[in-house]
Amino acid sequence: MRIEVALGSRSYPIILERGCLGRLSALADLSCKLLVVTDEGVPPSLLEGVLAQCPRAYPLILPQGEGSKSLAAFEALLTHMLEKGFSRKDKVLALGGGVMGDLAGFAAACYMRGIGFINCPTTTLAQVDSSIGGKTAVNLKGMKNLVGAFHQPILVALDPDALQTLPPRHFAAGLAEAIKAGLLGDPALFRLFEEGDIQQNLEEILARSLRVKKAIVEQDEREAGLRACLNLGHTLGHAIESAEGLGGLYHGECVALGMLPMIEDASLRQRVKAVYGRLGLPQSIRYDGEAIYRFLCHDKKAAGGFVTLVRVPALGQFRLDKVPLTDLPAIIGEGIE
Ligand SMILES: NC(=O)c1ccc[n+]([C@@H]2O[C@H](COP(=O)([O-])OP(=O)(O)OC[C@H]3O[C@@H](n4cnc5c(N)ncnc54)[C@H](O)[C@@H]3O)[C@@H](O)[C@H]2O)c1
Ligand SMILES: [Zn+2]
Repeated sequence: MRIEVALGSRSYPIILERGCLGRLSALADLSCKLLVVTDEGVPPSLLEGVLAQCPRAYPLILPQGEGSKSLAAFEALLTHMLEKGFSRKDKVLALGGGVMGDLAGFAAACYMRGIGFINCPTTTLAQVDSSIGGKTAVNLKGMKNLVGAFHQPILVALDPDALQTLPPRHFAAGLAEAIKAGLLGDPALFRLFEEGDIQQNLEEILARSLRVKKAIVEQDEREAGLRACLNLGHTLGHAIESAEGLGGLYHGECVALGMLPMIEDASLRQRVKAVYGRLGLPQSIRYDGEAIYRFLCHDKKAAGGFVTLVRVPALGQFRLDKVPLTDLPAIIGEGIE
């Protein structure tokens, strides 16, 4: 399946096909020099399969984890390209989850003011969310995505088979972003999580999630307004993610929790919780409300005493609410039930 993201001169195709990583050379010109950026947790067979198709590939295998989204790793990529004599015609390829995509995409955005970037996402989170939309970034001093750029890829190659090796908890956490897409704009996508077999419906879940995100990004590439809806669950979710002592929850798990208080219809909230139960996502949490509040007040998105919350009045609908920080303690409470 081919999904075209229409952004004028920055348009690009998403190829969603089982086994497409083995056919990359038919999808893009790989005869240039290619920096292949991956991490130690990505199965070596995936890397070997990609390298076999690239006559002039330079692989770089980084430590796994959020720590690789650093300026040090960014510099290492740029230095590698400089030492290998990369020109503006050469390309960067990311093979891995959102960490590799964000880092490699940012290096591609900056090297010689921007070279071609191919994204091959291998986690559910990256396949349903981070690999499309053109946001690239690294972290600075503990601040997530503080340094980054918009840089659209020239190709996203999405191989559902690559997800088979993902640990189940990670597989489920990434799907929280697909539930988010369903809540925002695709009731049929949400129902795929409620009914039927998730593995069997995986390709449709991926395709539908991508279409929701594509439609939003096409209307608001640089987040002037509408695109902020993709932050559903993230305002509170990021605070939960950053609060200490909450047991190392994954990003998707925090987003899942953060979405719950944003769902205004109580019966829909119960349906969402039931889906979390099916997937093994957390349905409730206790926390120190004051610590969450302090984090939200310092969030880079909290400007001028207000924070924008994405609320879901009904399945497939959303509203952006500008809420004064003083209203937050009542929303945050001491946990999510
Ligand atoms: N750019 C965006 O629009 C955007 C959107 C959402 C999230 N993000 C970013 O994405 C990042 C999180 O991405 P993630 O959840 O994919 O984490 P990740 O990239 O750290 O990957 C998770 C783990 O899975 C391993 N892995 C990758 N593919 C695998 C496979 N096929 N089999 C087995 N293991 C595999 C990796 O080695 C890693 O240890 C965060 O940094 C977040 O900020 C970016
Ligand atoms: Zn997210």
